[in-house]
Amino acid sequence: MKLCNEMLEINKKGHYSFGGVDTVELAETYGTPLYVISEEKIRQNLREFHRAFSSYFGSYRIIYASKALCTKAICRIVSDEGAGVDVVSVGEMLTALASGVKPQSIYFHGNNKSNEELKFALSKGVKIVLDNDYELSILESIAKSLKDKVPILVRIKPEVFAKTHAYIQTGHPESKFGVEIHNLDIFNRIKSLPFLKFEGIHFHIGSQILDTGDYYEATKKAMEFIHRLKSELNLEVKELDVGGGFGIKYTDEDHVPPAYEFASKISEAVNETSQSLNIKKPKVMTIEPGRAIVGNAGVTIYEVGAIKKLSSGKNYLFVDGGMGDNIRPSLYQAVYTACVAEKPTNEPVVTYAVAGKYCESGDILIKEALLPEVEPKEHLVVLDTGAYCYSMASNYNRFSRPAMVLVNNGKSSLIVKRETYEQIMQNDVVPEWLKGGN
Ligand code: LLP
Repeated sequence: MKLCNEMLEINKKGHYSFGGVDTVELAETYGTPLYVISEEKIRQNLREFHRAFSSYFGSYRIIYASKALCTKAICRIVSDEGAGVDVVSVGEMLTALASGVKPQSIYFHGNNKSNEELKFALSKGVKIVLDNDYELSILESIAKSLKDKVPILVRIKPEVFAKTHAYIQTGHPESKFGVEIHNLDIFNRIKSLPFLKFEGIHFHIGSQILDTGDYYEATKKAMEFIHRLKSELNLEVKELDVGGGFGIKYTDEDHVPPAYEFASKISEAVNETSQSLNIKKPKVMTIEPGRAIVGNAGVTIYEVGAIKKLSSGKNYLFVDGGMGDNIRPSLYQAVYTACVAEKPTNEPVVTYAVAGKYCESGDILIKEALLPEVEPKEHLVVLDTGAYCYSMASNYNRFSRPAMVLVNNGKSSLIVKRETYEQIMQNDVVPEWLKGGN
């Protein structure tokens, strides 16, 4: 069977290895379910974006969207590769800061940032991506007393329907994110506030986007808006941040444009509009890839338990994880590819529905996985789970969240410990009146 992840290889033992480490040994050493992340692949992905955007733009920034996968080790790797970090919470901000990411390379996003969150962000000197008027009022009340100006970008809605799952479209007119593109009032207000340093605008049209035309359309609209800001308010946009959303290959049916095609289309839109409208190009172009950096750098290893063959011909293969460690199939009908760690050369002959152990009928990781005949205790490796799996994991049914291991050139090391049952119960408090008795 052809697998679409080049980090998987067949080793001398006849097992799949990932990042040069035997996947069966990983399962035995660290337990299952287990997230495994390839350091090399993250670095390769970032370098590809660097190559692509540096060849089209004189000055550009890569700000890794940490919501895809946020741990200290991951933030350290991306920062080492010259990327900043996009955060949407104090938790993500603390993780980035603890990993040595410089505050000025941290972009704070979010449509409902609280007073406390903004206070914290400003005390650290991170850049704010402003979403709405109310947030501006909060900023105003905090920033007045600061000695340094607060750098801000303003998120706009470019009014583009990116071709992706409806739940992950974010640039359309009714999206909850950002300022409406015809609203100049907020920019007028920003202009009048001396403690803000307006640097530019941001948009993000959605996630898992495979059509470069969506970026072309949104970038053109943003450039037209930049023209309005200049001509009507005399406001200069130095930075244009076009967000993330660059799709990855989950199955053989996905046709994914390489990073340079996205870069080329974005640059085409910038060049065309700057000529036709006679405006300066923004000095800095920024992108915020998340999934495209970590998605194909991760796999999840499960141990196979019961196999249930129904009289209808349907075959269930049960694994020791499921929707708690990967909610994406149930939430977005996401499709994943899998293989059997011990059987890389066996012919795929059985179609299994790969189901988790959560108490929910929708807990199906893969509806139809064509695999070799699988036995209990063997290991299933689900590919391309680096993005939005650990970061969206839950304790549903009070299962603990898996551990995560970083692999590189045959080495492996734990980067997130497996959650314990003590940790799961640690915040529970039993009222006095329920204590005692029996
Ligand atoms: N920048 C902003 C402002 C964002 O909101 C996002 C993602 C990104 C960058 C990164 O997008 P990426 O390059 O990773 O596509 N949970 C969903 C994805 C939600 C994405 C939310 N925002 C999923 O599992 O598909």
